[in-house]
Formats: sequence, C-alpha cells, structure tokens
Amino acid sequence: MTTATDTILTGADANEKARQSNMLSPRFYTTDHDAFDRISVEPLRAEWDAMMKEYEGDNNHDHFQRDATFLDELNACAPHWSPEMRQEVLDFFVSSLTSEFSGCVLYNEIRKHVKNPDIKQLMTYMARDESRHAGFINMSLRDFDLGIELGKLKSDKPYTFFKPAHIIYATYLSEKIGYARYITIFRQLERHPEKRFHPIFRWFERWCNDEFRHGESFALIMRANPELLSGFNLLKIRFFLLAVYATMYVRDHRRPLLHEAMGLESTTYDYEVFRITNEITQQVFPIALDIDHPGFRQGLADLTAIADAFDAAKKRGGVTGLLGKVWHGGRALVQFSKMYLLPVKRQKLLEQPRMRPSW
Ligand SMILES: [Fe+2]
Ligand SMILES: [Fe+2]
Repeated sequence: MTTATDTILTGADANEKARQSNMLSPRFYTTDHDAFDRISVEPLRAEWDAMMKEYEGDNNHDHFQRDATFLDELNACAPHWSPEMRQEVLDFFVSSLTSEFSGCVLYNEIRKHVKNPDIKQLMTYMARDESRHAGFINMSLRDFDLGIELGKLKSDKPYTFFKPAHIIYATYLSEKIGYARYITIFRQLERHPEKRFHPIFRWFERWCNDEFRHGESFALIMRANPELLSGFNLLKIRFFLLAVYATMYVRDHRRPLLHEAMGLESTTYDYEVFRITNEITQQVFPIALDIDHPGFRQGLADLTAIADAFDAAKKRGGVTGLLGKVWHGGRALVQFSKMYLLPVKRQKLLEQPRMRPSW
C-alpha cells in the first residue's frame, strides 16, 4: 500500500498535481454539443419541470460560506496531522477540487454551446453549484498557501473527448458516487465528531444533496430516452460502472491514513459507497456490478497492487522503469478485462425515476 504519489509542498506542486492527467487523476472532458441539442426530456416533462423548480429555489445559496469557528477548528486540528497525513489531506483536496471543477468546466461549455433550452437551463444550474463547490475547497487549499489557479487549470489541463451518451453515463455515475462518498463520511463523523480532523466535513451533508440532484438530472435524461439504457448500450454502462468503481477503489487505497483518521478503513468505506451507489442506480440501470462476487473483490485488490507496481516502475525511471510501466500497464488491462467479463446482476428499474437522498 502506498500513500499519495507526489508530494505537495508548494503552490506550484498543487497546481501541477491538478493539471496532471493519468489513469487515476480526475480528467476534464469535452463533447459533441450538437448531440445535446437533440436530447428531449418531453416524456418526463412534469418531473423535469419540478426538478428545475428545485434548482431555481437554490436551497444551498448561502451554504458555501465559512462560519465563525471554521478557522479555530482548523487551527486546533492541523498541527496534529503527521507529515504523511498532511499529504493525504492535501491530495484529497486537490483531487476533489479538480473533479468539482471538471464538472463546472464541462457543464459551462455545454451551456455555452447548446441551443436546447432544457439542457441550457440545467447546465447553468449545475455549473453554478460546481463552481461553488470548487471555490469552497480552494479556500481550504489557500489556508496552506496552495490555492489552485482555476483559470490557468482550465486552459492548461488536457481534455478528453467523450460522446454525449458516454458523458451522460460517466457524469451520472460520478455525481451519484460523489453523493455516496460525501454522505458516508458525513454520517461517520456525525457518529464520531471527535474524529473530524477538518471543519470542511461539517458542510458535506447539504453539499452532497447538490450532487444527488445533479445525478437526478441525468437519470431523468436517461429515463426520457430509454434507448440509452438498452441493447448494446448495456455493455457501455457495464464498462463505465467498472471504470468508475475501480478508479475510486485504487485512488482511495492511496489514502489509508485519511480514512483511518475518520475511523473508517478504505476497503470497508469503498464497499459502503458501492452499496449505496448500486441501490441508487436502480433508478436507471437494468444491470449492477456484483460487488460481493469473490472475483470482483479479488480483482480490485489485484488492480491496486498492479497500480502500486506501476508507480514503483515510474519512480525507478530509465529503461527498466519504462519496461516495468509497459508490463504493469498490460497487466492492469488484462485484470480489468477479466473483471469486465464477471457476471452482473440484473435489476428491475424503479417505477418512479426520481429518488430522495435518504442515506
Ligand atoms: Fe460538486
Ligand atoms: Fe455535481
């Protein structure tokens, strides 16, 4: 097991970490905007309009502001972090900020380019929320003089092109898994306030309701366009489920101290997040990964070990390092393919497409 790969000591390190694009780092996406113009939500018009009303009501408009005790609390906690723990906390902030900002950039770009009024309105609201989320995390990095220059990140970070259908699967999942992650942490620290090593976790409950609602929007889009949820597309859904779950698992296992400090253990925490996400996906996906299948559990453990071996080869550098990277990269691909072929669970879609965040 390794901790965060690169050390964050200066603002330049933090900005570089956010800019990097690799298998495990949150990416920036671009897509075919014209295809978004052709999406119709007409079959679920009433549900859609009700959701837009919720966005308009903006019940979190005053949430992302610090209260009077925030800094006192931080100053009481931070000096007790070990240097390794501090790195994990900073790594967590940089990668969380990058994925919040990734949503902000993507939703804003779609908003700017589409003519479809429903999609335009949705993207405006979601970009608003993600911009608040990213800004709030950035304040916590600035406490350590490690603020991320968001404008520069937007122009310097590489973009990955995804077809609209893939954007919909991937964003739906990352919003819902984001909800499941934040609520699991919030509930744990609600039970054990003495383990709350940073004040930001007090914000997570109302915060994750934003993510839940973002996920609901994509759920409605998919339910209004059922061809996205059948036939060949099921193979793609299966791919995205596995890619999102596996990335989260490997990434989280690089931050064992962070979870330990919360009184969680990375594997238990991740399986709780998978369980919640699987329950939520009953609103859209006719299939779910069998997270209790021994092959699945072993597969994730093996992928984590391969990722560690890949990192060790990268650190070694030179010809042997390069050969090691190729070898372990190939092993990761074989392992991922084996997991992709594991049996999945069929599930009946919930009658009502919308769900409440009740975890
Ligand atoms: Fe967010
Ligand atoms: Fe979100």
